[in-house]
Amino acid sequence: EKAGYRHFMAKEIAEQPRVLAGALEHYLGDAGLALPEGLDFTGVDRLTLVACGTAHYACAVARYWFERLAGIPCEVDIASEFRYRDPVLSPRGMAIFVSQSGETADTLAALRHVRGAVGAVVGVVNVPTSSIAREADIVLPIHAGPEIGVASTKAFTAQLLVLALMALRAADQRGRLDAAGLERHLADLRGVPGLVNAALALDAEVAEIAQHVAEAQDVLFLGRGPLFPLALEGALKLKEISYIHAEGYAAGELKHGPIALVDSHVPVVVIAPHDDLFAKTMSNMQEVMARGAQVVLFTDAAGVAEAGPGVWRTLTLPTAGWLAAPIVHAVPAQLLAYHTAVAKGTDVDQPRNLAKSVTVE
Ligand code: F6R
Repeated sequence: EKAGYRHFMAKEIAEQPRVLAGALEHYLGDAGLALPEGLDFTGVDRLTLVACGTAHYACAVARYWFERLAGIPCEVDIASEFRYRDPVLSPRGMAIFVSQSGETADTLAALRHVRGAVGAVVGVVNVPTSSIAREADIVLPIHAGPEIGVASTKAFTAQLLVLALMALRAADQRGRLDAAGLERHLADLRGVPGLVNAALALDAEVAEIAQHVAEAQDVLFLGRGPLFPLALEGALKLKEISYIHAEGYAAGELKHGPIALVDSHVPVVVIAPHDDLFAKTMSNMQEVMARGAQVVLFTDAAGVAEAGPGVWRTLTLPTAGWLAAPIVHAVPAQLLAYHTAVAKGTDVDQPRNLAKSVTVE
C-alpha cells in the first residue's frame, strides 16, 4: 500500500498535489467558494481555534489570515491548556477545532467545554466519521485520505488550505474584500497544487542537505508572520522522526535568548518567502550568520536575489501568494525531516513513544 515508496510518510508527502487539488474541488467551484451554508462569520465577534501538535500550528497560521483578511479577533490555543484555563467565551463567538483523526482526547474535551457557550462549534477533520465530526455543529472534512505515517504531512497542508478558504469566506461575508481582491486570493489558492508539485522537485537537494543536518545535535528554525508557525512545525517534524533536538522561534524573538545557542554546530533553517516581512527576517538571519551558523534558507526567486552572500544552502521555492506561501513552505520542512530521519536510520513511520491517534489526555 506504500505504492512503491519506502515509507508511508514519503508517499503522503508526494501525494499532496493530488490531495490539495481534491480539497479545492470540494470547496471551490467555478462560481467561487463552496463552503457549508451554515458557516456564517457575519456577526462573529471572536474566533477561538483549538487543536494539538501539528494541527495547532495550522491554527496558528490561520490566525494571521483571519485577522488580516476578516478582521476578527482570534485566539489560538493547544487543547490541553485551553480546556483547563478559564477561556472567556462569547455567545457570538465561533470555536474551530482542527484534528486529523477527529479523536484526540484533549481536542474533543475542549469542544465539549465550549458547547453551549459559543454561537457555533466547527470541526475541521480528516476522518469524517470521527467523534469531533459527530459533535461539531458544522464539519469541514479536509479530504486528505487516510494518513498512516505518524508524522502528519498531507493533513497539515490540507488543513491549511481549508482554513484559508474559511478565512476568505469570512472576509467576503464581512465585506472586507472586493470582488477583485477575493479573486486574487482564490487564484493564489487554485495555484497551490502546482506550486506544491514544484516544491516537491527540490527533493534531491533537500536530501543532500539532510546528510549534513543528520550530524547536528540541535537545529533552529526561524520564521515571521504566517511562516512563524511553519518554523514550529519544521522543528516538531524534525524532532519527532529524527530525534534531533530542534526548536522553532519567531525570528524577532531570537535575540531575547535563543541566539545564545547559536554557533557553527547549529544549523539554522530560515523560512522566508519574499513577503512584507522579508527584510526583517533577513536581518535576523545575518545575526545568526555572524555567530557562525550554517543557514539553510527556504525562500523564492525574489528572496534569493535579495538574501545576500554567506548563506550555506538556499532552496528556491516557487513564488506563492500570501495564503499559499505557508502551504508551499511546509514541503521542504517535511522533506528535510524525512531525509534526515532516513539518514539516521530511525523508524520514520512509527517513531518511538508516539501514537497516530492520541485518545488519552
Ligand atoms: C505531528 C503530529 C501530531 C498531531 C497531534 C494532533 O506530526 O502528527 O502532533 O498533529 O497529535 O492529532 P490530530 O490532528 O489527530 O488531532
